[in-house]
Amino acid sequence: MTTTLPRNTLGRTGFEVTSLGFGAMELRGEPGGPAISEAEADALLNAVLDAGINLIDTSPDYGASEDCIGRAIAHRRNEYFLASKCGCVPGAPMGTDHVHTAENVRAGVEASLRRMKTDHLDLVQFHRSLTQAEYDEHGALQALLDLRDAGKVRFVGVSGTLPNLDEQIGMGVFDAFQIPYSALQREHEDVIARASAAGAGIIIRGGAARGTPSDWEGRRNYMLPGTISKDRWEQAKLDELLNGLTRMEFTLRFTLSNPDLDTTIVGTRSVAHLQDNIAAAAKGPLDAGVMAEAKRRLDAAGATSSG
Ligand SMILES: NC(=O)c1ccc[n+]([C@@H]2O[C@H](COP(=O)([O-])OP(=O)(O)OC[C@H]3O[C@@H](n4cnc5c(N)ncnc54)[C@H](OP(=O)(O)O)[C@@H]3O)[C@@H](O)[C@H]2O)c1
Repeated sequence: MTTTLPRNTLGRTGFEVTSLGFGAMELRGEPGGPAISEAEADALLNAVLDAGINLIDTSPDYGASEDCIGRAIAHRRNEYFLASKCGCVPGAPMGTDHVHTAENVRAGVEASLRRMKTDHLDLVQFHRSLTQAEYDEHGALQALLDLRDAGKVRFVGVSGTLPNLDEQIGMGVFDAFQIPYSALQREHEDVIARASAAGAGIIIRGGAARGTPSDWEGRRNYMLPGTISKDRWEQAKLDELLNGLTRMEFTLRFTLSNPDLDTTIVGTRSVAHLQDNIAAAAKGPLDAGVMAEAKRRLDAAGATSSG
């Protein structure tokens, strides 16, 4: 597919990223997620790059994900900005507690470099949204900065959530923040604006609302219990604003309408969904009037912009 995806500067990294990135968590495979064969994973990653998507997010926590990247696209390393995480325990299953020591940060980054067959990671994000004292206590932050100074890591960031995000922005050390956001989950909207105004790059996760608008019963949004996503959509009567778009296209383009977003790392293990998302992202933001009306309705339905 030849589509031109819009690009934004990822904050102070200065890197021009496509507004649609790729979240590689869906490559984790069993037992942490649905099965995906090596051939499917390799085809998907190459389709991501063939479409011009130039930012990939992964983590040592995501099962086979980093190995897939090393196997399938290490030979195309100059085509993508590679973001991974730290604080994870190498080899441990998803859901294992993170360890914020200098030693674990160093071991994690070295293992990521080996798995992904590269000599540098463009961005390493603390996977847990902690306080400054917690990042400092056992030398974890300093270890990451030392890896940056050694050239193994280009930029440092956090996968951040309220309530610690403002403190993390104030530290002035993080080049990018990865933050959950969608029409159905707007509570970080205001802090995203503050992080962007401070010069940080903004990477949105959950920008497709985890696929829930396409299947309310079979999928689950994170940080939102039970049927809240569906209730918000229905109370806001968003179907009335679709004007021929699918719910997924509307959802993704709502996310892409956030003026502070630099990229959204939508995850999928389906080439067809990837292509739908590329087509949606190429169309860019929703009409401004539709956005204003959607936000008015979502505010009334309790999906507001501040946490
Ligand atoms: N704490 C953290 O740092 C953290 C936590 C979670 C995720 N992440 C990162 O953020 C990325 C994205 O997050 P996410 O997976 O939570 O949220 P997301 O990108 O909003 O949702 C991904 C889900 O949406 C579905 N989907 C995508 N496009 C679709 C389409 N066109 N139609 C129907 N369904 C579609 C996918 O299912 P199909 O496979 O069926 O398409 C997948 O299950 C992850 O891959 C990971 O890199 C980070």
